[in-house]
Formats: sequence, C-alpha cells, structure tokens
Amino acid sequence: MDRFIIEGNRNLSGKIQVSGAKNAILPAMATCLLAPGKSVLRNVPSLIDLKSMAHLLRVLGARVVYENGMMSIDSRDIVYNEAPYELVSKMRASIYVLGPLLARLGEARVSFPGGCAIGTRPVDLHLSALEALGATIEIEHGYIHATAEKLIGADIHFAKSSVGATINTLMAAVLAQGQTRLFNAAMEPEVDSTIDLLNKMGAKITGTGSTTLQIDGVEELFPVEMQMISDRIEAGTFLIAGAMSTQPVTVENLDPRHLDILLDKLRLAGCELDVQEKSITVIPPQVIKPVDILTLPYPGFPTDLQAQFTVLMSLADGSSYIEDTIFPDRFMHVAELNRLQANIRMERNIARVEGVPKLFGAEVMATDLRASAALVLAGMVAEGSTIVSRIYHIDRGYDRIEEKLNSIGAKIVREDA
Ligand code: UD1
Repeated sequence: MDRFIIEGNRNLSGKIQVSGAKNAILPAMATCLLAPGKSVLRNVPSLIDLKSMAHLLRVLGARVVYENGMMSIDSRDIVYNEAPYELVSKMRASIYVLGPLLARLGEARVSFPGGCAIGTRPVDLHLSALEALGATIEIEHGYIHATAEKLIGADIHFAKSSVGATINTLMAAVLAQGQTRLFNAAMEPEVDSTIDLLNKMGAKITGTGSTTLQIDGVEELFPVEMQMISDRIEAGTFLIAGAMSTQPVTVENLDPRHLDILLDKLRLAGCELDVQEKSITVIPPQVIKPVDILTLPYPGFPTDLQAQFTVLMSLADGSSYIEDTIFPDRFMHVAELNRLQANIRMERNIARVEGVPKLFGAEVMATDLRASAALVLAGMVAEGSTIVSRIYHIDRGYDRIEEKLNSIGAKIVREDA
C-alpha cells in the first residue's frame, strides 16, 4: 500500500492546475447508459473512482475507452442490469446506475451501499423518488431490486437536499411518461452538469440552478460529446494550501462561480484573492484569522472542503468552530491532526479549533478521500516530516496530487510501504 512521505515546507508558490470534476463525471458516465451509442466525455482525469465506474459500465455491457483525459462510452448493448456487491462496496456512487438501468431496461439490481468512513449514508431518498415514478422496489439479500414496466412522471418533494437522489431521479425521469417536478432538489454544480448533459442528449429539463426542476419525459436520448466541468473541491483544496503558504499561489482551470463561499471564508481568514475568469491567485496572510464554518448544501460551505479548512484553522490566531450539517460524524481527521499537535476538541458534533503557531510532523493515517487531502495539507505545513499511510483514498479523487503539489514547491514522495 502506498504512503506519502512529506517534508514540511511553507514556501509554496507558482501555478497549479485543476482537473475535471470527479463528482460530475461519475453521474455523467451513468447518464451515458441512457443514450444508446457512443458518447465522449472530455477533461476526465485519471482517478480510481472513475476506473471503478468504468469497470461497472463494462460489466453491464458498455464499451469504455478511458485514456489521455478522455472517456468514450458506447452503451449500445447494455445486456446486464446488476451492479454487484464487489463494485458497489468499493464505490458508493455505483448507485448512479440504478436510475438509468431502470429507465432503459425496466429492471435493475444494485447492491445496497453500506456506510463509510464519513458516517451512515442512506439511499432512502433515491428509492422513494423512484417509487414515486412508479417503480416497485424490493430489498432482497442485500440488493435493491427495482422494476417498472413504465415510469410515469410525478411531483416529488425531497425531505432533504441530496445530490445523489436528485441526480438518480433526474436520470430516471427523463424517459418517464409525462412531466416530473422535483422540489427541494440539490443545486450543486454537479447537478447542473448532469442536467446539461441530459439536455444535450435530448432531455427536456428546466430550472437549472434552482431547487425546483421540471422534466418533460422524452421517448429517447442520443449520444453526445461533452467537456466536463473542473473540480471545485480539488480547486478549493489547492486554494487552502495556498492560504497556508508564505507566497502567492495561482490555481488555474477552475470556475470561480462554484467557489463563492470558500472565497468569502478565505478573505475572512485574511487572504487576498485575485479572481480571474478561470483562475484565482491567493495571497496568504501573515497571520491567519479564525473563521467559523457550517457546512450546508450548495451554495453553502461544502462538506468536502471541511477537513481541509480545519487544517487552515488549526494554524489560526484564535479559536474557531466547525460544524458539518451534511455528515455530522465526518471528523475522522481530527484525531490525526491532533497527532500533528493541532489543538482540536470535539464537542458532540462540533470541532472547537484552538489555533497553534505550528504543527509538527508525525505518522498519520488517511481514513477517507477528503480527510486524506487534509492530512497532506497539514504535512506540507508541519515542521519536520509527516508520513501519511493508506493514501489509496486520495487516489480515488485526486489525480497525481503529489506531482501537482510538488510543482509548486511541496516535497512529497510516494513510497510503496
Ligand atoms: C455527494 C458527493 C459527496 C459529497 C455529498 C454532499 C458524489 C459522488 N459524492 O454525495 O462527495 O460529500 O454529495 O455534498 O457526488 N441522504 C439521506 N438519504 C438519501 C440520500 C442522502 O438521508 O437517500 C442524506 C445524507 O446522509 C447526507 C445528505 O442527505 O446527510 C446529503 O447527501 P447527498 O447529497 O445525497 O450525498 P451524496 O450524493 O451521497
């Protein structure tokens, strides 16, 4: 299992590039199941999660070519309707094939996704929405078995804002008979990206960027080519790294509109920001100011940047509190950061962060994707060396993170332990 050996060094400077958004590409790949023929996605980085999804699509009968930042998916012959346990247990986003398989084949069996390091993650909203569209759902031996002779449009009110449930329901509703309206739909840029792709394929969805979406069912969808949006979470991770540096760092190939709340929080922490159309330069403060964080559905502060922001706050001149309303137990990184001599105390589900002048290198363990990124950032600013083990988590969602960060002055070595 690979691990990172990181030599602490705060002199990051220069330009760093953001890749395509994993969380937009995963549903895009599932969307391709709805349009028989060959679709092409561009700006696709090399990530373990995307390889896992490609594997699943191949199991279903699709032909997938994934190389050089491009993925083509030929879904002419979808012959199998089951997402097996071995694949779903590796990657929860496999649940995204449920809606498309049901809409296209009238039947799907998807292994029930379990919990994960960031807490229990139910799929009840996905299932009740599909039921509202007329599907019959049975849970059998750890599998979700969904069937529908014909999906029929309906009004669906989500009890909670869910990216996954919104996207899964959209993918089913586009081929349903009649009109579907989704209320309290998620507004994340990855939802917008899915709507763009579906509409390019011939779907009729309106309401992008709002919590109410209207879908007029169509008979069929057609394959297309699409450039994928850039990864706002990777961008945010690099901006936070820049905020802890001593010199300016420019993060390129991003969409600043997707990062408003993070930019507000970075300014409050004392950063100066030069925001251009596709890049942001962060000029770090001499003294990091404490800022409180509450994660919320988009456009609120993203839960996927909570761990990284906690690292920044661990070096602030004062105390801050951090609460995650999306995944209240997502604080596995706190104990690891305290091993680096951060001073963070959990009070039920709130992290009380007392800033310290310095972190000190130690051995730590990555527990999930974003927590791993946080530990890498912490190792980069800690005095001495930090070893981050189990970094396979980070390869799920960051393309060659050590190469990118080394290009702006980090000292990270990948080692096969
Ligand atoms: C997606 C992202 C993940 C991000 C999360 C929140 C992908 C592949 N993953 O996950 O990185 O952290 O959005 O922005 O895009 N919930 C239910 N019932 C459901 C579904 C969700 O109660 O059926 C709850 C969840 O437990 C959570 C909240 O709703 O508290 C939001 O989760 P959701 O937006 O669905 O997250 P994912 O789509 O799984």
